[in-house]
Amino acid sequence: MYVCMCKGVTDHQIRREVDSGARSFRDVREATGCATQCGKCACMAKTITREAVQKA
Ligand code: FES
Repeated sequence: MYVCMCKGVTDHQIRREVDSGARSFRDVREATGCATQCGKCACMAKTITREAVQKA
């Protein structure tokens, strides 16, 4: 599912970034561009990142 419409970032992509070493939402944002435009996706993207980091 798309989390960030502006940058076309999916939840899958966020999890993949965490799998490849991202450890914070800042890392995910820098790698994908997620939440760098309107910012509406930031809350959900942070939640997905947090969950993925906890499982990693
Ligand atoms: Fe992610 Fe707009 S939906 S920056």
